Amino acid sequence: MDLKDQINIEKLPRHIAVIMDGNGRWAKDHGQPRVFGHRNGVKAVRETTEAAAELGVEYLTLYAFSTENWSRPRLEVNALMSLLVETLRKEIETLNKNNIRLQAIGDISKLPKRTHKALLEGIENTKNNSRMTLVLALNYSAKWEIVEASRQLAEKVKLGQLSVDEINEEAFAGALSTKNIPDPELLIRSSGETRLSNFLLWQLAYSELYFTPIYWPDFRKNNLYEAILDYQSRERRFGKTSDQV
Ligand code: IPE
Ligand code: IPE
Ligand code: MG
Repeated sequence: MDLKDQINIEKLPRHIAVIMDGNGRWAKDHGQPRVFGHRNGVKAVRETTEAAAELGVEYLTLYAFSTENWSRPRLEVNALMSLLVETLRKEIETLNKNNIRLQAIGDISKLPKRTHKALLEGIENTKNNSRMTLVLALNYSAKWEIVEASRQLAEKVKLGQLSVDEINEEAFAGALSTKNIPDPELLIRSSGETRLSNFLLWQLAYSELYFTPIYWPDFRKNNLYEAILDYQSRERRFGKTSDQV
């Protein structure tokens, strides 16, 4: 039986988050510059997005550029930002055809003007689509996001719009850039690294973590199916005993 047919559609994660890692090592293995790896990562993005939408996943969040990634060589950062513009422009039509809405999380106003503009255009042009939401994490840092949320709540308290007693988990989650998006049930990281690298620290509090040695440019639909099957084989206890769930 195909991997896809083994997936229990009733128990599909609503939200899958992915740390797309290993582009540089993939390029090195192919005797090419790092940027070649990033270019080849686009195919994996396309396949993963398509597979998730076909299955009926509601939200797919892709970690595309972290705040820490600014410290890479300038040439690589520039190439990544250009690739983003190029890909956004090219893929918007496909997103519309597949009824997929684009959103972004992170401090996107600090992106280069051209990238920021292409991103806003993509978000605007797909805003009425309803099959799946594709969230790009760009210039994203979970610690930054948590500090920003705290500031927002503090400001409201100062203005008398919120009392200190009203600050609870729900209010806090509502001040994050992922407000209105359910927490990911499943996090996938490619390339064999087993860390979170400042990604969705609040939202991943109870997610199932799945690590695969595959480098991101080699990631295909079947790799997503494998991750979902692994997720479906787990028992999510949320603090209870096995007998209780
Ligand atoms: C992930 O691949 C892409 C980004 C972080 C933008 P890397 O570029 O981190 O690839 P490795 O980890 O060096 O192999
Ligand atoms: C995490 O990958 C960020 C993205 C995938 C965009 P990195 O390759 O930057 O993470 P570290 O440096 O290995 O932690
Ligand atoms: Mg990496």
